[in-house]
Amino acid sequence: MPTSSSAPGVRPASFRFRCIACGDSSERAGQDFRCPRCSDLLEITDPAWTSAGISAERLKSDWRQRRLSQSVVDQSGVWRFRELLPLVADEHQVISLREGNTPLYELPQCGRVAGVPRLFGKHQGMNPTGSFKDAGMTVAATFARLAGFRWVACASTGNTSASMAAYAARGGMRSLVLVPQGKISWSKLSQALDYGAVTCQLRTDFDGCLRLLQELVLRAPVYQLNSINPFRLEGQKTLALELLEQLDWQPPDHIIVPGGNLGNSSAIGKALLEMRDLGLISRLPKLSVIQAEGANALVRTLREGAGKRLISVAAETNATAIRIGNPASWKKAVHVLEATEGACEQVTEIEIAQAKAEIGIEGIGCEPASAVTLAGLKKLVKQGFVKPGESVVLVLTGNLLKDPDFTIKFHRGDLFQGTPSESASETLASLRHAPVVLDATLDAVLRTLKQAEES
Ligand code: F0G
Repeated sequence: MPTSSSAPGVRPASFRFRCIACGDSSERAGQDFRCPRCSDLLEITDPAWTSAGISAERLKSDWRQRRLSQSVVDQSGVWRFRELLPLVADEHQVISLREGNTPLYELPQCGRVAGVPRLFGKHQGMNPTGSFKDAGMTVAATFARLAGFRWVACASTGNTSASMAAYAARGGMRSLVLVPQGKISWSKLSQALDYGAVTCQLRTDFDGCLRLLQELVLRAPVYQLNSINPFRLEGQKTLALELLEQLDWQPPDHIIVPGGNLGNSSAIGKALLEMRDLGLISRLPKLSVIQAEGANALVRTLREGAGKRLISVAAETNATAIRIGNPASWKKAVHVLEATEGACEQVTEIEIAQAKAEIGIEGIGCEPASAVTLAGLKKLVKQGFVKPGESVVLVLTGNLLKDPDFTIKFHRGDLFQGTPSESASETLASLRHAPVVLDATLDAVLRTLKQAEES
């Protein structure tokens, strides 16, 4: 069952699927969302998003105005920007959990540590299921249902599955989740279970799950909701639109994002380029991608493959959300890095743990994969790529509560036990706040308070 821009409920012929490699363009996409000619990934284009016929000032004012409305599509921080999304004809067909509308926080303490006073965090972990995936899922799940699918499916390191299961449930569809056994956090898995997904823990890694899913969608009437699905990326574009609106359309100098399967960086970059073409912003921020050293396929692809051929890796990192060795959207990511003149860096497990604790101390917190952004920023400042006077936005992709095991192990001092980083991790001791077990006496609590005050 192909997805088509002329399906019932979709504004006729408003958008097209274009191959990112050969440029072939069509109204239809097959279930694998790959180009029928050359098998590369598709992206969604619409002449309306780049034409001069659309007034930037009018868009800004309409988007602002919608925040006062009670309608579901106006309350959604995704569909509020619908002029830059593939449109549905009837807004009642939208599946929404009021996603988006996420806060932009100042991060003064992290800014001091990194040497960049104007530092902000765009916290996508404040979405309904606790991660940035919801912004893409509202769009892709809506189009799955419009195309008549009963089943949706994804391979996941946890957040996509939580989000997909929620939106499928809200939209009356069934969902099938493929996750690597033992390699995702229990809190993410528990979300998929509660939202009613059929959850398969496969004896493989994320890349193995994704390979299997791509075969499955060609054999069964199941709609794939990984970020290979270009509708996901369209929804995720709104992160950048909302961010620029929060900054009164004054672009920051840098936006820094974690890189896993590389869908999110591609989506943010696509949005920045479209915003520039539409005159919504006058200059492009530099978009940089940070990966864990143990899952550094894009870093190696750029350094050793000159961005021309993918260098896959056997991925390993405590930041399980980005434990991905064969990123599907690598070509899209290379394109937006080049177009915005951004950088690509890698950070160690110790650097990730340290950055996560520093974001926690701001009273905000995030999951480990999100913390690579702060760790990477510190490197980019040292290299002189980010200047102290510049403004920087870190995209915090997931909520602190997504991975409590990591956090508790860190504070108890167990995270690096028995690993080669054990002795190096002692440098993080001052960031640990382990719980203490005490007799239930006033004296014991007062003593603890005094010790904390003096330390
Ligand atoms: N941060 C978090 C919290 C994530 O869950 C992911 C990806 C990323 C960053 C990387 O984003 O893949 O677009 O480059 N999680 C996926 C999942 C793969 O299945 O939940 P990306």
